[in-house]
Amino acid sequence: MRIVLGVGGGIAAYKVASLLRLFTEAGHDVSVIPTEASTRFVGTATWEALSGNPVSNSVFDDVHLVNHVRLGHEADLVVVAPATADLLAKAATGQAGDLLTNTLLMAHGPVLFAPAMHTEMWQHAATRANVETLRGRGAAVLEPASGRLTGADSGPGRLPEPQAIFDAAMALVQGRSDYQLPLAGRTVTISAGGTREPLDPVRFLGNRSSGKQGVALAVAARNAGATVRLLAAHMEVPAPAGVEVQRVETALELREAALAAAADSDVIIMSAAVADFRPAEVSDTKIKKRDDTADPVITLVRNPDILQELVEQRNASRAGSGQLVVGFAAETGDSQGDVLAYAEAKLQRKGCDLLVVNHVGMDKVFGQDSNAVVILSRAGSEPQEASGTKTEVSEAIVRRISFELNHVSPRA
Ligand code: CTP
Repeated sequence: MRIVLGVGGGIAAYKVASLLRLFTEAGHDVSVIPTEASTRFVGTATWEALSGNPVSNSVFDDVHLVNHVRLGHEADLVVVAPATADLLAKAATGQAGDLLTNTLLMAHGPVLFAPAMHTEMWQHAATRANVETLRGRGAAVLEPASGRLTGADSGPGRLPEPQAIFDAAMALVQGRSDYQLPLAGRTVTISAGGTREPLDPVRFLGNRSSGKQGVALAVAARNAGATVRLLAAHMEVPAPAGVEVQRVETALELREAALAAAADSDVIIMSAAVADFRPAEVSDTKIKKRDDTADPVITLVRNPDILQELVEQRNASRAGSGQLVVGFAAETGDSQGDVLAYAEAKLQRKGCDLLVVNHVGMDKVFGQDSNAVVILSRAGSEPQEASGTKTEVSEAIVRRISFELNHVSPRA
């Protein structure tokens, strides 16, 4: 397939080098047309080397080839990334001041814009109107991803991940209407890691959760276009870029953060390993060993069940909102019942919409890079199995969540 890849003048231009590689490695012939401004971010030599084709942004280069007409005519697909506010405006008003805008006017095949800009520019009435105009004419305009932008700000405006743009482009060429990122415009809150329940200023009760699964879920949800909030208890892995991170220590802190975040989330995923119990008393000072006293006894009290409270809050104040509450279950099974039987009972008890079930043992799941899960649904559909790396399992979970959000009628 012949693809024209227009590159706009934004810092995200560097990510487009990966997108170009995805296209060329899939066997496509790509002509890159960078705008003048974009060459301040990535030089034409990069595009020539990676595409294997000559690169120009002027209508006056190789005039005998009539490039300003030919490139658009011959392209099976035109992709513009990053589509800046300026480029969207030029395309919407049919300007033809350079080779890329000429090509857009001459394009016969599908055109995909992958916007990237600061949130305020994306939300400005002028940009909204330009996007509507372009969509009205049949162009595909992706929703930008959300998260950390170039400065200190964050919000919608990030260039979607190269793989997501690639997938959207292929879906568009196949004439599919689902080219939009599946979680675009959605807010997903994910708890990750293990809570720590203090005994005194230096000791705590903790658990083996590494946070890898929660982080992999955050990445998968971010890549699917969601605004992601990560409620991070103790984790052995760093939080990923492009997600909002709130650190928590104890189950009670996590409860407060989760209930607040859920108020405006479309999805809440409780993948954190929450301590079921906490010490009844926390000593202000370090508990000392003394030879003259008996061995200490730690009294534990129950922590609230956050997942259950999230379901109750949703049912009480957001009934019909379509908010999806997803729980995790780590089960070992025992002589009283197998893993699935326990999980099924937990799903009913907690009332969440989906329950992702891990089979754990001392050597399984915690801290490992791969696992196998079964996704149970309260709506009663068949259990769905997913296995592979934590990344692959997370992508499967996010696909299932997208499906539930987009195709299953409001819950509770
Ligand atoms: N969870 C929670 N609040 C708690 C304990 C657990 O929100 N106090 C959440 C976990 O994040 C997970 C789900 O509930 O999504 C299942 O946790 P799990 O510990 O497996 O279940 P328990 O309720 O502790 O049941 P059991 O002791 O029978 O395993």
